[in-house]
Amino acid sequence: MKTQLDSILQSAEREITSVKNIHDLLQMKSRFLGKKSELMQMMGQLGRLPAEERPEFGKNLNITKNRILELLENREIEIKNSNYATSLQTQATDITMPGRPFPRGSLHPITLVWQEIEDIFISLGFEVAEGPDVEDEYHNFDALNTPPDHPARDLSDTFYIEDDVLLRTQTSTVQIRVMQQFKPPIRIISPGSCYRNENDASHSPMFHQVEALVVDEGIDFTHLRDILNIFVKKIFGEEIDSRIRPHFFPFTEPSAEIDILCVKCYGKGCNLCGGSGWLEMGGAGMVDPNVFDMLKIDSEKYTGYAFGLGIDRIAMLKYKIPDMRLLFENDIRFLRQFKI
Ligand code: PHE
Repeated sequence: MKTQLDSILQSAEREITSVKNIHDLLQMKSRFLGKKSELMQMMGQLGRLPAEERPEFGKNLNITKNRILELLENREIEIKNSNYATSLQTQATDITMPGRPFPRGSLHPITLVWQEIEDIFISLGFEVAEGPDVEDEYHNFDALNTPPDHPARDLSDTFYIEDDVLLRTQTSTVQIRVMQQFKPPIRIISPGSCYRNENDASHSPMFHQVEALVVDEGIDFTHLRDILNIFVKKIFGEEIDSRIRPHFFPFTEPSAEIDILCVKCYGKGCNLCGGSGWLEMGGAGMVDPNVFDMLKIDSEKYTGYAFGLGIDRIAMLKYKIPDMRLLFENDIRFLRQFKI
């Protein structure tokens, strides 16, 4: 009997120490200690032994059983610990690994130019003003000295929403809003969207202008000329001159169109400037006294200049964008090129 117990214990020791996972270990437990196990069967036979042998044998049975239990428990701890150690190794986070690249967007070329324009004018002492895209005829036309029969009011140019409600065709509306609200001295720019019913490679139904308005005592045309020159050189480079040509706008007198030296051929004449050596940038002029009178600003005391430049046009020239429609198609391959 004693030798039988020893051999059970020996095989239990051998087998339990070689078990590799919890599942096999549980099976082993039922094999050595379950109802049908050799050990349990021996326990069942205990009653048939002579009374004097029972205590000694019972004691040995229990010792063997407890020893096997102990072996099983120790092995279970060992297996769990080693599982934990491998999972620590295989599932560990390597904090020295480079991170996954974070996809970054880019600013739209118009936004880039818009910000640059604001920075330049702020550095020249201007403030930035805003006005609504949806306007009335008063701010878009009447107060800008544009009579009711002016062709610009025509439905073919202006998007009307209702009678007297329209999408502004120019940022000059903000001139009026600023002069309604503030007394001179005034020195603002106002970048924003404008809308006109036109659509081709150099015109989009929605486009962007930056307006400037300066009103004070003693403002004259040389101030306008000077600030335009400074701005053009800051945004396009020292070698780019600007010039003005006589023109007409209802709300400025005298009025002018602003050209810059062609950024491609520097005045020699090329396909970009149509051979003229110059590129059109926008309109300008001295605020018409009629406008001041309508807004109850003393036109004897104050004079002012205003200009409006195309932001999209500046972006196209700066970034050599050949077709205005590229700016508004939102093709990601196009936009990605403006990463900074
Ligand atoms: N608003 C004019 C346009 O859209 C430009 C302009 C602005 C002209 C300010 C004179 C003064 O064409």
